[in-house]
Parts: sequence; structure tokens; C-alpha cells
Amino acid sequence: MDKIILEAKGIVKSFKNGNSELIVLNGIDISLKVGSIVTIMGKSGSGKSTLLNILSTLDIPNQGLISINGRNIKNLPDDDISYIRNSYIGFIFQFHHLLPDFTILENILIPAWIKNEKDKLELALELLDELGLIKLKEKYPLELSGGERQRVAVIRALINNPRILFADEPTGNLDEKNALILVDLFKKINRDYNVSILLTTHNPDVADIGDLKYELKTGSLKIK
Ligand SMILES: Nc1ncnc2c1ncn2[C@@H]1O[C@H](COP(=O)(O)OP(=O)(O)O)[C@@H](O)[C@H]1O
Ligand SMILES: [Mg+2]
Repeated sequence: MDKIILEAKGIVKSFKNGNSELIVLNGIDISLKVGSIVTIMGKSGSGKSTLLNILSTLDIPNQGLISINGRNIKNLPDDDISYIRNSYIGFIFQFHHLLPDFTILENILIPAWIKNEKDKLELALELLDELGLIKLKEKYPLELSGGERQRVAVIRALINNPRILFADEPTGNLDEKNALILVDLFKKINRDYNVSILLTTHNPDVADIGDLKYELKTGSLKIK
């Protein structure tokens, strides 16, 4: 049987809005098999970011259970959740959030420095080389194109060897050509590093890389 790296059951999330309540996620079940890609489409405001934030431990649901690598994270102390986040999870957002005063190589190494891991230089250079960006290593973010910056953000997300990569509309600011380059990069990472990927997108071509494809609508997931 395929191993499951991430499993969520009965996820409910609502936000108070004055006297009323906005139910954004209304009982979501989803799981991610090791080495698979799951994509979630949905209109703006459908709850994609809310769901990704919850699945990636950045936010807490009102109801429901999440387990990562077989460990239920509900009621775990913050330190344990941070540990799980740091050891299993990488993030890519719509905006790259690279730090302008640091070189590309330094930006990639920052998540490792935060973990006090000082021996990641070789991996950073290997990733830059493997993913075709080695010539950018001494440049600064402002010297790169939008597509290049987003590819660097992917490498930065990989530096701590995550088992799951969460990407929230990663191609949202890219033109079609750069979106497809990024998609190829996701496929390569998935294949070569066996990283499981959960991504949200507006773009049907991007959603197509999913082994499983969902649409998020009125608080529920439907298989596409
Ligand atoms: N912290 C919050 N407080 C109140 N409402 C929120 C909050 N975060 C998201 N929402 C609302 O939840 C809905 C889903 O938002 P979001 O998850 O950002 O959707 P998407 O990423 O699909 O565009 C929206 O109506 C949004 O306004
Ligand atoms: Mg969003």
C-alpha cells in the first residue's frame, strides 16, 4: 500500500464576520501519498490559501484532524509542531519573498542558517546546478526576472530537505511560458527528490500535473 505523508479529515474553518460566520472549509478530507502531486483549483476567495495554511500547520482548523507522516498534530506543543514543520515542510508562495540585500545563494541558505545548519552549501550549489540556475548564484533578487525569482524560491524551499512542498498559487504572477517552466521544475523535484507536492492554482495547465486534481467550491473538495 502506498504510504501517506499527509492526511486531513473533517477540516472545518470559519471566520467570524460581525454577528455572522463565514464557513470557508466545510468538512474537507484530503490525503497526499508519498511521492505524489495533488493540485487544487478554485476561484479567488474559495478558501485555497486557508486550506493550504491549515494543512501546512501555519493555521489551526476549528474542527478536524491532520496527521503528518502518521503523527496527529492536534494539541501538540508549539515546539513539536515547529519541529515537524522544519523537518517535513517547504513553502512556496505567490510572491517569492526573497530578501533583496542577500545574493541568490545566500537567500537559498537562509532557511538552513535559521536551523543552525551550516553545512548546506554543497546542497545549495547542487540544487542550483541541477535546476539550471547556477549562473545566478552571486546575483541579487532585483537582477532576476520574475520567473527566475520564483525558481530560486523553489530551491530555497528545498534546502532543508522537506518531504512535502506546499505551493500556494506559485505561478500566479508568471506569464504562461514561465508558468510552464516552473511546472517542469515541480515535476523534476517530485521525480528526482521524491518530494510530495500540494499546490493550488487558477491555471488548468498547472493543475494538470496533479496525480489527483481537486476543485475547492463552497467549502468542499470535488475530484476533477
Ligand atoms: N483571517 C481571516 N479573517 C477573516 N476572513 C478571512 C481570513 N482569511 C480568509 N478569510 C476569508 O475566507 C475566504 C477564503 O479566503 P482564501 O483562503 O484567501 O481564498 P483563496 O486563497 O481561494 O483566494 C475569503 O472570503 C476571505 O475573505
Ligand atoms: Mg489564496
